[in-house]
Amino acid sequence: MSKPKVVVTRKWPSEVEAQLKDLYDVQLNESDIPMSSDELKLALQSADAILPTVTDVLSSDILNVENKRARIIGNFGVGYNHIDINTAKLQGLVVTNTPHVLTDCTADIAMLLLLMSARRASEGERLILQKQWIGWKPTQLIGQKVTGKTLGLIGFGRIAQAMARKAHHGFGMRIIFYSPSQPAQGIMDELQATRYETVEDVLTEANFVSLHCPGGEATRHLINEQRLKLMRPSAHLINTARGDVVDSKALIKALKEGWIAGAGLDVFEGEPNIDPGFFELDNVSLLPHLGSATEETRVAMGNRVLANLAAFFAGEEPGDRVV
Ligand code: DGY
Repeated sequence: MSKPKVVVTRKWPSEVEAQLKDLYDVQLNESDIPMSSDELKLALQSADAILPTVTDVLSSDILNVENKRARIIGNFGVGYNHIDINTAKLQGLVVTNTPHVLTDCTADIAMLLLLMSARRASEGERLILQKQWIGWKPTQLIGQKVTGKTLGLIGFGRIAQAMARKAHHGFGMRIIFYSPSQPAQGIMDELQATRYETVEDVLTEANFVSLHCPGGEATRHLINEQRLKLMRPSAHLINTARGDVVDSKALIKALKEGWIAGAGLDVFEGEPNIDPGFFELDNVSLLPHLGSATEETRVAMGNRVLANLAAFFAGEEPGDRVV
């Protein structure tokens, strides 16, 4: 029997690519240049499975391409707001993602950004790199203490809970959160967490706000000018979720005019293009979407896609099926 044909849209860890080569008739992307819309359409027409990631926008136009051969989209990543899920469903395409394996590493990056922003780490490093540091002084780069402060989480899924765990048990932080659903009592007890009724309640009270909601139309610009104005002037905003959850222009204004003290961002509206307004600010720490970027996690994400594909081609239900 011939092997299923699989197209991988970006370069993956080599040990996972080696397994793909063994199991499938695979087209890898050695150059790692993102595929164009036409190339993505061709992939859907010529392969049984396409394995995209966050940089591949699979719009309804692309998914509606005629003469499709593809039956499964095995996304390399947990977030899937770059895939038009309704069209995928209508087209009978199975979509899978890679939950669980990136939870801790993404929460680590959120915690890293929280600490960087609170302790003005980016400013400090710039001072040294620009050879401007002339020595210790009692009033230099004074930041905010993290230990014992209140962390407000918007969204309380796996990554938010992992961050809460690190913040509560590691830094003695008090945990408050907004979530449309009630988490299990065991988690509430372990983290001594308090659920608030509205996003506004969390924004008003927290010293640090970290965003953990999915991207997409429902959460686009959830953090806007009005909501930023509710935050404390000493508060920091952390975003490791999706860039468009925050209105960038409003955040730049908030940071410039001191409505809040700082921000730590791993994701951006329209990334990899970043609003140049951020480059003019001292009080923002910027990372290039590093949430899941560890050796262990990226290999585990690849293995998760492999497991989903194996189940699908064996006629079984893939473990991480989204639609
Ligand atoms: C995810 O898994 O959603 C990360 O943001 C990378 O795609």
